[in-house]
This record gives sequence, C-alpha cells and structure tokens, in this order.
Amino acid sequence: METFKDYYHNEVTLSFMDHPFSADPKHVWVICRFQDMWLLTEHGDRGYEFPGGKVEKGEDSKTAACREVKEETGGIVQRLVYIGQYKVIGKEKIIIKNIFFAKVNQIIKQPSYYETKGPVLLDKLPNDIKQNPKFSFIMKDDVLNRSMQKLYEYHLV
Ligand code: GTP
Repeated sequence: METFKDYYHNEVTLSFMDHPFSADPKHVWVICRFQDMWLLTEHGDRGYEFPGGKVEKGEDSKTAACREVKEETGGIVQRLVYIGQYKVIGKEKIIIKNIFFAKVNQIIKQPSYYETKGPVLLDKLPNDIKQNPKFSFIMKDDVLNRSMQKLYEYHLV
C-alpha cells in the first residue's frame, strides 16, 4: 500500500491487494488495450484519460467498467481483470475506485460518447503526461505508473 498526493494535492492511497478499501466501490477506472494500442477517451473538460466513472444503482463494478468503456470509447470488453484499488481523500468526499485492465476486441462507433469526445488510440503513452495539458489530472499521479508496472508484472501487456 502506498500514499502520495495527486495533481490537486489530494491524498491518494493505492493498493494492489484484493479490494482493500471497499468490497463494493462506487467508482471504476479501466486501463484499456485494443490490438497493440492503448485505448483512452477524450473527456470534454479534463482531456485524455482511461475511461471510467461511477457505478450505477443495481450494477457491480465489473458491469460498470464494461459499460463505461463502451459509453466513452465504443470499445467492447473481451476480458476484464481486477488490478487494484485506490482511495482519494477529496475536499468534499472520499472516493474509492477499482482499477481494471480491459482487453477490447472491437470498437463500435456510438451515437453519443456522453461527456467525452470518444475514443483515442495511442501506440505509446508519452513520457511527459504530468506536464502535458492534453492529459487529464487523473492520469497525472502515481496511480498510472504503478498500475502500468503491475500490467507488465502480470504479463497482461
Ligand atoms: P458528481 O457527484 O457527479 O458531481 O461528481 P464529482 O464531480 O464530485 O466527482 P467524483 O465524485 O467523481 O469525484 C470527486 C473528487 O474526487 C473529484 O473532484 C476529484 O478531486 C477526485 N477524484 C475523482 N476521481 C479521481 C481519480 O481518478 N484520481 C484522483 N486523483 N482524484 C479523483
């Protein structure tokens, strides 16, 4: 388990254990791979980020993860793997997110991508994400790098 500050100086605690903070978290974040590329979405305000969002009433986090990927990128999830969880102590509330890895096998054009501008495919994630204004703040703390390390460690990429 490790604790660090995010882009907005909120405290983040990250763990790759089995659901350490909540058995039933209300948020999800999904690191997506399509063919040999990373599949992100372009959020209207925040910029490029891996898709994700809130778990809706009646959903579990895996269902929410697949739904968010489809809504924000048009991606159809073929394989979904739980990677870890993080907790952000925000100014007004504490949020807990499940981190998943998703293998997407097709991307279907959607009539709407909700609050995003749809899919963004990248061969490589740039090294300058922390300084790059095109990228969302949720890509700018150690959750991204540490999760990426886990994907390589687990031979998922
Ligand atoms: P609404 O309830 O729809 O208004 O959502 P919200 O805008 O309050 O956002 P949400 O509940 O998703 O998150 C609340 C706060 O938690 C955000 O303003 C962020 O500061 C923080 N937060 C949410 N997701 C992340 C994340 O993935 N990483 C980091 N570092 N902070 C996050």
